[in-house]
Amino acid sequence: MSQRKILMSSALPYANGSLHLGHMVEYLYSDIWSRFQKLRGHQCTFVCAADAHGTPIMIRAREEGISPEALVERISAEQLADLEAFGVAFDNFHSTHSEENRLLIERQYHALREAGHIYTKTIEQAYDEAESMFLPDRFVRGTCPTCKSEDQYGDACEVCGTTYTPNDLIDPVSVLSGSKPVWKDSEHYFFRLSAFEEQLRAWMADAELHQNITSKLEEWFEAGLQDWDISRDAPYFGFLIPGTEDKYFYVWLDAPMGYVASFMNLCQRRDDLEFDEYWDPGHDTEVYHFIGKDIVYFHTLFWPAVLQGAGFRLPNSVFAHGFLTVNGKKMSKSRGTFISARTYLDNLNPNFLRYYYAAKLGPGMDDIDLNLDDFIARVNSDLVGKLVNIASRCAGFISKQFHGALAAELDDPPLFDEFAAASATVAAHYEAREYSKAMRAVMALADKANRYIEDKKPWVLAKDPGNSDQVQNVCTQGLNLFRTLMIYLEPVVPLLAAGARELFDEGKWSWSDAGHPLLGATINKYEPLITRVDAKQVQHMVKQSREPVESVNEAHEITIDEFMKVDLRVAKITAAEPVEGADKLLRITLDLGDGQRTVFAGIKAAYDSDTLIGRHVVAVANLKPRKMRFGTSEGMILAAGPGEQNIFLLSVDDGAEPGMRVK
Ligand code: MSP
Ligand code: ZN
Repeated sequence: MSQRKILMSSALPYANGSLHLGHMVEYLYSDIWSRFQKLRGHQCTFVCAADAHGTPIMIRAREEGISPEALVERISAEQLADLEAFGVAFDNFHSTHSEENRLLIERQYHALREAGHIYTKTIEQAYDEAESMFLPDRFVRGTCPTCKSEDQYGDACEVCGTTYTPNDLIDPVSVLSGSKPVWKDSEHYFFRLSAFEEQLRAWMADAELHQNITSKLEEWFEAGLQDWDISRDAPYFGFLIPGTEDKYFYVWLDAPMGYVASFMNLCQRRDDLEFDEYWDPGHDTEVYHFIGKDIVYFHTLFWPAVLQGAGFRLPNSVFAHGFLTVNGKKMSKSRGTFISARTYLDNLNPNFLRYYYAAKLGPGMDDIDLNLDDFIARVNSDLVGKLVNIASRCAGFISKQFHGALAAELDDPPLFDEFAAASATVAAHYEAREYSKAMRAVMALADKANRYIEDKKPWVLAKDPGNSDQVQNVCTQGLNLFRTLMIYLEPVVPLLAAGARELFDEGKWSWSDAGHPLLGATINKYEPLITRVDAKQVQHMVKQSREPVESVNEAHEITIDEFMKVDLRVAKITAAEPVEGADKLLRITLDLGDGQRTVFAGIKAAYDSDTLIGRHVVAVANLKPRKMRFGTSEGMILAAGPGEQNIFLLSVDDGAEPGMRVK
């Protein structure tokens, strides 16, 4: 097997918040692959960096009264500490706000300009006069022009799913000052993405992308590639565009270059790495990016196109994973399932999450679910019950009866050979990012090892001193089966593997060690490698993650007369159905005693329409009808909760009749 030279990256975390278990999907997915390649003896370099630029970071620093540089430094140090505690082992963690990145992005920009891939165009953009700044789409909120839902972002409506520009919003306001934005002209820099379709198609054919990605790309090509606005007006935290005084590169232009900058920074410290060997075209080094499904567009269209346009080499492939759900639903602060990496680490062993994710991850973009009950069951049965159990049943005899000495021969060499022969299959699964298949293969072998020990019963044999040799051979066999499996699992559970290496008194493993039993050596005393997960630890983690309910706001007191103006009535739901073309809405028919009404409610994520029929709920009966794209809404039903799946309808006990007043 010849040594490959691999450079790989994981997506750069925005340096404006804490990492949560969703982010950890990204970092563990990539770290497992990096550790696997290294264990196989390849030269694999794994880089990452803080994604430092952009408006949200600038605003947050301003709110805290510190410089963006100081904010980025603090947050990224925190993030890196969390990642390291999870065992994520980058070769370098740099920053997009670095001299290397500035140099690279300027080099790229000049190359793109000279080749005619950049042009300028004046566009109209929302401007906050109170704050004297142009507003990114997400910093403008207002009423959706389509369904008339209030307080929606400037780029898309969360209720009906329509996308638009801030200009289309009804009653737009700036999130920063609360003032009404004005529309102002500004000159922007555009990258001619539309000219790259053919080259991108060629790259796509070479890159062996997963079907999930190629079908996305096909869709985007079908829709036609739009040129890309790569500039932002001051004030902005980023790199100034050369030759301008108030135009900055958009964060997404310099963010992927952060991979290259991080590598360049590392090359200065490492004699064995040549920058040009990885970033000039025509070398047989390999470059891969690991990302989440939300940023595929940036990595498979913009990024290869700007690299190509500026004469850099292109990545060999891009590997994208899906999003994390917890207990089958989007992570939620009110449910306590929006769990930060730190909160997890305060309660549970990081190897457990690494194993659980690996057991669920594959090469595609399907979402993965962290079901907390299943997590407890899986970790306890696989890692504790199957895997570590092999060692704990054998090691004691070797320590006590043989002063730690392993036998010079195995009790059952063909069984060991079977474990060694799994090497090729398990390696192929890792290589193809079929981690769940790799975990299944290893656990099937662990079952076999346990059956072997069960059959031989060393605890029975040990009762008769005449069986001494056999006890030693059997336990040596069991420990070697365990050792081979731990080598296969080292990319996934490195901290557990380190404990196992300590037991065998071995410094470092390579993949091929799995094929050679350790015989005649002296092992160390067995220390329990892990303990079972207790459901209480998980409950504690969820409790710590639960956000307190909003406090009641005294500033908004109303009089009883004002309250009485709201005509609340018992309503019976007589029909409910999804609204075609709206992601979140149900069309609900209410019986209010005096006839039927139709209301539209954004509760589709929380309720199956069928289960609603017959329920008695509370409705606002005197709400002025509102015209929406799908029809007129003639009232409103009351519910609690922050939204999405976390919506809880108010119901009325049996016996209430439609039309009764609610007071
Ligand atoms: N800064 C950009 C990436 C720039 S790469 C040149 C970014 N940052 S992020 O902090 O929002 O996300 C970092 C990574 O975590 C991304 O790969 C993203 O897809 C992933 N995830 C963020 N939330 C996630 C889930 N809930 N589930 C799975 N992955 C998630 O995007
Ligand atoms: Zn809408």
